[in-house]
Amino acid sequence: MSSVPVWIDTDTGVDDAIALMAAIALQRQKKLEIVGISAVCGNAEQARTFENARNVVNLAGRPDIPVYPGASKPIMVELQTAAYVHGEDGLGGAALPASGAPKETEMAWDALYRCARERKGELELILIGPETNAAIAFQKYPDLRDYLKRILIMGGAAIGGNRTPAAEFNIWVDPHAAQMVFKSGVPLIMCGLDVTTRVELNPAEMDEIENCDSAACRLFRESTKIARNMYSRGGEDVYYAHDVCPVLYVVYPELFSGVESGVFVETRGTITRGQTVTDYDTDVKFGVKNARVILGADRQRFAEILIDLLKSI
Ligand code: RIB
Ligand code: CA
Repeated sequence: MSSVPVWIDTDTGVDDAIALMAAIALQRQKKLEIVGISAVCGNAEQARTFENARNVVNLAGRPDIPVYPGASKPIMVELQTAAYVHGEDGLGGAALPASGAPKETEMAWDALYRCARERKGELELILIGPETNAAIAFQKYPDLRDYLKRILIMGGAAIGGNRTPAAEFNIWVDPHAAQMVFKSGVPLIMCGLDVTTRVELNPAEMDEIENCDSAACRLFRESTKIARNMYSRGGEDVYYAHDVCPVLYVVYPELFSGVESGVFVETRGTITRGQTVTDYDTDVKFGVKNARVILGADRQRFAEILIDLLKSI
């Protein structure tokens, strides 16, 4: 398998950082080629997520991977961040050395479009934060859809939510942007909470990571405390590496199972804002199947692969 060219758009928070580390490890194995990374507001302010993404690729020994700045607020609603999961700094208090790489000034949407055209339609877009940058790119460059092979998101949920009972965080933060992505016409893989909460890391697996001294394992150890306390809620200590799912899907699709579905986003609801309304289990369908909704995965194999990747970086 030749390396797949990908672009990762991220609101670098804790699980984003883990996903970036995994992607860089896959690049080292020549299974992925990270063409570019772009930062978006979400888990934290964009200025913070931009620095976090730069510092993570630097920590992984790849300060040469370009990180581009992106949107500082959602398209129509006000930004509401997630310090309750990721801490005020977005990385759960983990202290990373500052990258010395030159700061890119080309905006995310311009750089994404440029690179998508250069890759002649082979670029795969991975969205692991609110989808504001992607939406702006589609607005500014309507033919971007002709130059993306597919879009893989961590976002949404066919059933339930986490930021509200009806909506997953990435979609809730910017529902208008997400709607534009779901309506883009580009083939879309939706790794929502339906699958990301089924590939949790268990205590033994987290111990294995924490007993390793690689940069990625140290980052996992230092950054996940807030999230693990919240996810565990007094029960079993688990960690959901949500954003890793679309990254591993690119290289190991056989780990996952899903259903072609119609999915559209509630943009006007109050208690249902950001719901990804999904038709795979309804009698009457939307009449279009615009997303493959991932519902299951081989949890043990997912964890084994992720642990090996984190140990290698
Ligand atoms: O709901 C989980 C998603 O929201 C992840 O991408 C996490 O990083 C946060 O952005
Ligand atoms: Ca994220």
